[in-house]
Amino acid sequence: MTASLEQLRRCHFAVDLGAARTRVWVRGAGLVVDQPSVAAVNTKTGALIAVGEFAEKMKGRTPDYIRVARPVSGGTVVDIDMAQRMLRHLLGDKVRRTLRRKPRLRAAACTPHDADPLAQRATIETLVGLGARRVELVDTLIAAAVGCGLPVEEPEATMIMVCGAAATQLAVLSLGSIVTAERIPVGGEAVDHAIVQHLRHQHELMLPSQAVRPLQLALSANGPNAPGPALTEIHGRDVATGLARSVQVDTAAVRMAIETPLTAVLDGVGKVLRSCPPDLVADVADRGIMMVGGSALLPGLDQMLRQATGVPVHIAERPDVCAVQGLGYMLEGRIEPRILNPLAN
Ligand SMILES: Nc1ncnc2c1ncn2[C@@H]1O[C@H](COP(=O)(O)OP(=O)(O)OP(=O)(O)O)[C@@H](O)[C@H]1O
Ligand SMILES: [Mg+2]
Repeated sequence: MTASLEQLRRCHFAVDLGAARTRVWVRGAGLVVDQPSVAAVNTKTGALIAVGEFAEKMKGRTPDYIRVARPVSGGTVVDIDMAQRMLRHLLGDKVRRTLRRKPRLRAAACTPHDADPLAQRATIETLVGLGARRVELVDTLIAAAVGCGLPVEEPEATMIMVCGAAATQLAVLSLGSIVTAERIPVGGEAVDHAIVQHLRHQHELMLPSQAVRPLQLALSANGPNAPGPALTEIHGRDVATGLARSVQVDTAAVRMAIETPLTAVLDGVGKVLRSCPPDLVADVADRGIMMVGGSALLPGLDQMLRQATGVPVHIAERPDVCAVQGLGYMLEGRIEPRILNPLAN
């Protein structure tokens, strides 16, 4: 699936359509869009009311005639028309005018590791609707590895873990390609769900969708490793009475609750390491695992991984934008291909 560097260099812009956020990199301009993949629509007229951050704020607060849609689900575009409209608005007139001026507009996009042909087609169709004549697809794992500066083309193995919203993808890379990979359908959304369930069971509190984020931020208040404040005040609705109530939530208990969905991720890491040749496992033990994706910032995830595998774990500098950054580097020609067989020259 992954396009060649030569083909990618001819692309004018790159798109990462994620379950949580949409990111666009334009050649020469860098990252121009980093917004939630959300669109609010008027169901009576079909008109788009808002996209991105503003539409996300409307979630759970809309009157009947406004629907807040997520055109990307589970890492796949599920509503092509809506995704196109959302992207058009996110790009804005200025960027769209610049792109329209290109004679043969080419786009690059990253797709999840095991994306089926239908999912790949949906991504291509979305970008063709934006005017792209050709769309090159790149595996998210490769794009993210390039984006965080891993030496993917070296013969030594590197391990990458892309912690997204809908899924966690893992791979061992060597000589520029994937040796073994795994996609686990557990990501940031599953963690949010675990937090909501915890508050429901322990505090009989229904948490508004907007309140999960502040709680997560409280968990990671002092950075991903150090514990944040012991107690955080959360407002919600009482399950029995239906009235508004606020509770003091023990952040340590929330940390415990989010560990449950993450055990599936740890199982996946074990599976990838077991199916990897021993030489490469030795390299991974040496160099460690690089974590990227928005959920890499989840408090304690890196520590859990370190304890479960016994290998060093690093978090990329800007974990959330690594994938689109990698695509950007490739289309701007900042990555030099390594000649794998010098004897052939
Ligand atoms: N500081 C943070 N602490 C905890 N979780 C975070 C933080 N920042 C982002 N997240 C989580 O990261 C997820 C978004 O990550 P990312 O932007 O990589 O997703 P995506 O690329 O849209 O998803 P996918 O790749 O699965 O399609 C969200 O679920 C969000 O809750
Ligand atoms: Mg992603």
